[in-house]
Amino acid sequence: MSAFFDLVGREPDGVWSAPGRVNLIGEHTDYNDGFVLPVAVDRGCRASVRRRDDGMLRCWSVQLGKGAQSAVAELVAGVTEGWSAYVLGVAWALREAGVPVPGADVVVDSDVPAGAGLSSSAALECAVGLALSELAGVEVDRTVLALAGQRAENEVVGAPVGIMDQMASVHGRAGSAVLLDCRTREVRTVPLPLRELGLALVVLDTRVTHAHATGGYAARRRACVEAAGLLGVAALRDVSLEQVEAAAGELGDERLRRARHVVSENARVLAAVRALETGDVAALGPLMAASHASLRDDFEVSVVELDTAVEAALDAGAVGARMTGGGFGGSAVALVPLDLVPAVAERARAAALSADLRRPDVYVVTPSDGARRLS
Ligand code: GLA
Repeated sequence: MSAFFDLVGREPDGVWSAPGRVNLIGEHTDYNDGFVLPVAVDRGCRASVRRRDDGMLRCWSVQLGKGAQSAVAELVAGVTEGWSAYVLGVAWALREAGVPVPGADVVVDSDVPAGAGLSSSAALECAVGLALSELAGVEVDRTVLALAGQRAENEVVGAPVGIMDQMASVHGRAGSAVLLDCRTREVRTVPLPLRELGLALVVLDTRVTHAHATGGYAARRRACVEAAGLLGVAALRDVSLEQVEAAAGELGDERLRRARHVVSENARVLAAVRALETGDVAALGPLMAASHASLRDDFEVSVVELDTAVEAALDAGAVGARMTGGGFGGSAVALVPLDLVPAVAERARAAALSADLRRPDVYVVTPSDGARRLS
């Protein structure tokens, strides 16, 4: 019998799922109208959902227990505590977008670890959002669904995140990465034939958790907005490295370094796409290394656990490695020759042990399809 039946006493109308993601390259560029290259992975959130006729929305998590409940009609913006803020938030955002969201019982079950930088929240938002819109009988455009997830996170959870994670979760494609232009929201699928290349996509989860509702993420975002303002442009997407360097005096050291990261990272994303599209996988190594160094030194969102994992992966023979996601903990991602995966895992664990850090979780992920109905 399903967890849904145990909790609700009936069977669900359907089961929907949405994946988490790793980001190959393009970090902290999404909220600067820039470019990102994420990959939806074979870990995600499943939402089993049954429509209710009384307009109430109730939710449970297999991992986290009972959540809050509310009448859909009474949902409002404003920061709400706890995991169910993502569920109530996406229902609110879809309703605001004009979707006649019905009452429902929702049971979610996720194998994306929370706080690991693999977008457990986007997976949750997109699985529930897709379920609620299908139960409403409305075909919601996938980008609109992603935007509803982001709005839930910004205005109900209180995390000022960009659009990358939700877009990866809805637009992901098996065997591919997704190039996203975060200004135009144009999506291009970029083939990532790992098996043919003899490579594995490896996650090194430092098990140091982060939360984007607090602290550093919002401060970085603010610095980028200020830098764009001082440079007289709408977003850091609109300036060149030369313009940033020329404005060093007005920007001051910190904003200069934040802006330099964003501008150089955008160029690295486009170079990575060119490398993949021309079959020059070796070129990804230096690009990933430069991305990590820039995030560590200029954007200052790495931590010793991530630096240690990246270095260990490279020492053990990874083609490329870098931190992935927002930083301040979470995971690194590495492209690793298939036969070297055990050595990378071993080296990362040994390096953590000798530096007196938590033992990382190391596992292979597979580029996968985006949000979909399972049954
Ligand atoms: C988090 C956010 C994304 C993005 C990344 C950094 O994952 O949710 O929107 O800003 O950090 O690239």
